[in-house]
Parts: sequence; structure tokens; C-alpha cells
Amino acid sequence: MIRLIYASAATGEFSESKLMQLLGKARSNNESVNVGGLLLYAKGNFFQILEGEKDTVETLFCKIQQDERHSSVVVLDRSEITKRNFPDWSMGFKNLEQFDRKKLRGYNDFLDHKLDEKDFGEIGPDVIYLIEQFKSIW
Ligand SMILES: Cc1cc2nc3c(=O)[nH]c(=O)nc-3n(C[C@H](O)[C@H](O)[C@H](O)COP(=O)(O)O)c2cc1C
Repeated sequence: MIRLIYASAATGEFSESKLMQLLGKARSNNESVNVGGLLLYAKGNFFQILEGEKDTVETLFCKIQQDERHSSVVVLDRSEITKRNFPDWSMGFKNLEQFDRKKLRGYNDFLDHKLDEKDFGEIGPDVIYLIEQFKSIW
């Protein structure tokens, strides 16, 4: 199995209802192929972790990369795993716009402004740390 983490920039405004629509589709698709993970949204950026069988995750990621709702997709981490961190989640989700971000142990000011591809290169370890926090928040 692998775990793939990427960051991306939303191409347009993402209202709560647009996010929910995206998530509904993602959850039902992921359930059928046994992929799980977490999606975070903050200030026009997405951070997603995908976990599952290597080929399944890579095929899904190819599809996600081509999605016109976001761009500047940058892989932050791609590692082999033996155990899933989010085994019960077809796709956990947190809209960090509606969340007191400063209360997060993984809080980092990169959550406060829209990032571009150049920024993504520098935040990899911080994002991974942040994502790890979410296992215990729910
Ligand atoms: C930030 C982002 C994250 C996404 N995550 C997933 C996902 O985890 N699973 C998924 O099936 N689709 C996800 N999508 C949607 C896919 O890009 C694509 O629209 C969808 O899988 C198409 O499903 P269909 O082939 O069943 O029509 C995501 C899209 C975006 C913009």
C-alpha cells in the first residue's frame, strides 16, 4: 500500500456546497475501491492524503490531478505503508475556514493565505505534521 500526500490550489471560489458535492463523489468512489484518507481545505488550498493499494491510489491520483477545480498539484509525500492511518474514512474532511486554526497543534501560518506551487515545496513536513493531528481531532 501507499500513502500519497499532495497540496493544490483551488481554481475558483469553493463554497461549502461545492466542497460537499466534491466530497460526496469522492467518498462513494473511494469506498468502492477501498481508498481512504483526508482532505483539508484552507484559504483556497487543498491538502489531501490518499491511502490504499498502490495502483488504485496512482490511478485515482491521475484523475484528481486532471480535475479543473484545482491546479498546481504538488506531491508532498509518497511512501509505502503497511497499515492505514485512516482505515475507517473513505475521505475525512475539514474545512479549516470554519475552524479555529490557531487551536491546532499543527497550526502553521501557511494556513492563513493562499499558497502557490513554489510555497508547496517548502511546507511538506509541516503539512504532514498537521494532517497527523487530525486523527485525534474527530
Ligand atoms: C481537491 C480534490 C480532491 C478530490 N478527491 C477525490 C477523491 O478522493 N476520490 C475521488 O474519487 N475523486 C476525488 N476528486 C474528484 C476527481 O477529480 C473526479 O472528479 C472524480 O473522481 C470523478 O468521478 P467519476 O469518474 O466517478 O465521475 C477530487 C477532486 C479535487 C479537486
